[in-house]
Amino acid sequence: MKYAFSTTNCTASLFLSVELLGLTPDDEVIVTPQTFWATVRGLQSAGVNLCFADIDPNTLNIDPATIEDKITPRTKAIYLVHLGGLMADMDPIMDIARRHNLTVVEDCAHAPGAAYKGRKAGSIGDIGCFSFHSLKNMSTMGEGGMITFNRDEWVDLTRPLRSIGAVYTRRARAEERIGPYARPAHKYVDHAAGAFSYDCEGPVRVGNNYRMSEVAAAVGSVQLARLDELNQMRRQIGKRLDAGLSQIEGIRVQLEPDGYKHIYHLYVFFYQPLKRGSNQEKEELIRILDAEEGIEIQNRYFPIHLLPEERARGHAFGECPIAEEVWFEQHVNLPIYPTLRPDQVDTIVDAVARAVKRVRGA
Ligand SMILES: Cc1ncc(COP(=O)(O)O)c(C=O)c1O
Repeated sequence: MKYAFSTTNCTASLFLSVELLGLTPDDEVIVTPQTFWATVRGLQSAGVNLCFADIDPNTLNIDPATIEDKITPRTKAIYLVHLGGLMADMDPIMDIARRHNLTVVEDCAHAPGAAYKGRKAGSIGDIGCFSFHSLKNMSTMGEGGMITFNRDEWVDLTRPLRSIGAVYTRRARAEERIGPYARPAHKYVDHAAGAFSYDCEGPVRVGNNYRMSEVAAAVGSVQLARLDELNQMRRQIGKRLDAGLSQIEGIRVQLEPDGYKHIYHLYVFFYQPLKRGSNQEKEELIRILDAEEGIEIQNRYFPIHLLPEERARGHAFGECPIAEEVWFEQHVNLPIYPTLRPDQVDTIVDAVARAVKRVRGA
């Protein structure tokens, strides 16, 4: 990408994206329902209306076939995520976006180094937002983020909006003087932010402090050099889990479609319940794995149209049937991190096999 600005974290990058697009409560944005709520916090904060598409039951990412129906004259953008490090199906999404003049924001928090048909996450849409939080595939230790884009006109907006500035149309003042006081020659006048030189015309947009610290940037530079190696370690673990789990009856593993590079920020498999319309079997499976087999389960995330704050805005169960069924009945995340050993992976697979058998009463 032509431009990359470091930020405090991915949430800050996403807030910045909303500011760059100038989104307001009059606007609508199409979003994926299966993500961490940070994807939409900036949109919610600006009062933008969220229209939830549905997901692909394999990748868990926004299903392009469910986008076009949601487009109205108020729609301005599509916000998507590459969940768990597997990318969304970007070609049809970009085709829809270009035909309807929509901006595409990629939440790449899970996907630095993930690829789709030879192109990397964050390089296909209009804006890419990255996270370098401690849990992510590459980290600046603690918090960290990046925003990327190609558009020249966003550079002069990003600088002030990321660093406590103000954006407005400037009108040169006839005289560089405030009351009886002339413009000082000394450079401290930098902190007067043009007060002697300009008047402000029209609406004003004020910036936040989204700057990354130097210490985080130093750590990030070293981590970036290791990103491919760390992603490769995760891929080996993901493939070993797939090989073991695909032998178990009652489980569907996530397929890596041709031309995609999954970087396994998260590992997910799909339990196939004997009785549909209930979450009892999946919940029992998780309970056994976590409480009896000693495999820590942290299921990420939850269909965000069902969060209380979105239900309060009229969203309801039934709106995203695939996202709901997959989440409540099937979706199970297993631990994954680069140093997970092959024997530990095999222990996990054996535990899942035992637990699934018990749940299915075999
Ligand atoms: C999908 C997704 N988007 C955004 C974020 C926010 O990232 P950060 O913690 O860097 O603000 C996260 C954090 O976990 C995430 O999972």
